[in-house]
Amino acid sequence: MKFQVKPGVYSIGALNPAMRVFDIVMKTDYGTSYNSYLVRGSEKTALIDACHKSFLPQYLDNIRQVCDPKEISVIVLNHNEPDHTGALASLLEEVGDVTIYTTQAGSLYVKAITNRTDLNLKVVKDGDTVDLGGKTLRFIPAPFLHWPDSMFTYLPEDRLVFTCDFLGSHYCEPYLWDYRMAYPQKYKEAFLGYYQAIFGPFKKYVLAGLDKLAALDYDMALTSHGPVLTREQGGYLDYALEKYRLWSTPEKREKKLVPVFYTSAYGNTRKVAKKVAEGILSVMDADVELYDIIDHDLCKLSELLNECDGFAIGTPTINRDAVPPVWQLLSCFDAIGSAKRPCVVFGSYGWSGEGVPNVCARLTSLKCALAAEGLKVNFVPTAEDLDKAFALGEALGKAIG
Ligand SMILES: Cc1cc2nc3c(=O)[nH]c(=O)nc-3n(C[C@H](O)[C@H](O)[C@H](O)COP(=O)(O)O)c2cc1C
Ligand SMILES: [Fe+2]
Ligand SMILES: [Fe+2]
Repeated sequence: MKFQVKPGVYSIGALNPAMRVFDIVMKTDYGTSYNSYLVRGSEKTALIDACHKSFLPQYLDNIRQVCDPKEISVIVLNHNEPDHTGALASLLEEVGDVTIYTTQAGSLYVKAITNRTDLNLKVVKDGDTVDLGGKTLRFIPAPFLHWPDSMFTYLPEDRLVFTCDFLGSHYCEPYLWDYRMAYPQKYKEAFLGYYQAIFGPFKKYVLAGLDKLAALDYDMALTSHGPVLTREQGGYLDYALEKYRLWSTPEKREKKLVPVFYTSAYGNTRKVAKKVAEGILSVMDADVELYDIIDHDLCKLSELLNECDGFAIGTPTINRDAVPPVWQLLSCFDAIGSAKRPCVVFGSYGWSGEGVPNVCARLTSLKCALAAEGLKVNFVPTAEDLDKAFALGEALGKAIG
């Protein structure tokens, strides 16, 4: 796939419509594209981001439709995840002498990904530029969008900004123009799922990134996945910017939010969960709801987990461990944004009881603040156990304050 975005700027990435899972954890019902761009100045030709290694042959063909790869003398790596840099090591065999522009973190990653120490790397800082001859590339580091190395590249003469993963979508149609999409409703679904999976844990950084973009004069965002975003009739650039701001702005809440997550095969852990909730409410006027993890959408639960003021989590012990739905939820925990979050752990067990201590250990390693020792209840909770559960809730409420 090759098309001209603006005179001298070409999209030359690869389409991957068949992909159904990305990065092990993301469902991608509509495939994806690995977008990459060539910018031709009067003196130099730059390549912005590369491609997944599996698509190298198509990718090289696309480049050759615009120029001889030997003409590329500048490579900009906005982000070094292998969906964008996987093809780089082989691509370097095809190009001439190139200078690679990336952030400080990116310079470390690209060496470890290509396993080359002889790269001609230039570490960029905010505002650094490269003049291609009538086209200037300006670099804008945007850390944690979504890796520490991420940056945007701005091309003022053409009013273009290359945002890499930011504002992207795992969505593939033959024409990568937003206003030519055949299934815009599916695109919106893919756009939301992508935001939740990739940027959901980095909301503070998303807002900072949006502010950086707001300071630029541009009319198209060239992302590394999905359609080019424009302000044409039927375009989605403003939609994308508005949704990112909306989804990343913390909700104003009247009350503290303290969810009680649990799951329970025979109802024992559920009984404890109810008492923990009562204990929390006895010391604070909070929004406390019980969530049986297997009855709710994981995305919704992970949002609660990452946005709450504190939480309780309960698990039975099955096969000497906490149960998979509990681990699955904890795998969504935002260890950066949610560090020091108060929490408590509880659960019923039969004979060995590893579930509760295993979850406590995990939460400690995630830098959560356990408000009390985990509560293990043997089979059916006694009145005394339920008093302890109530006290556990009180301890959590007090820790939240
Ligand atoms: C398939 C299965 C495996 C279990 N394995 C363990 C175990 O390894 N260690 C343990 O202490 N209890 C084990 N148990 C017992 C449960 O932890 C116990 O029945 C507990 O009360 C269940 O709590 P719940 O009603 O909240 O699900 C197991 C139960 C089941 C059904
Ligand atoms: Fe990425
Ligand atoms: Fe990506």
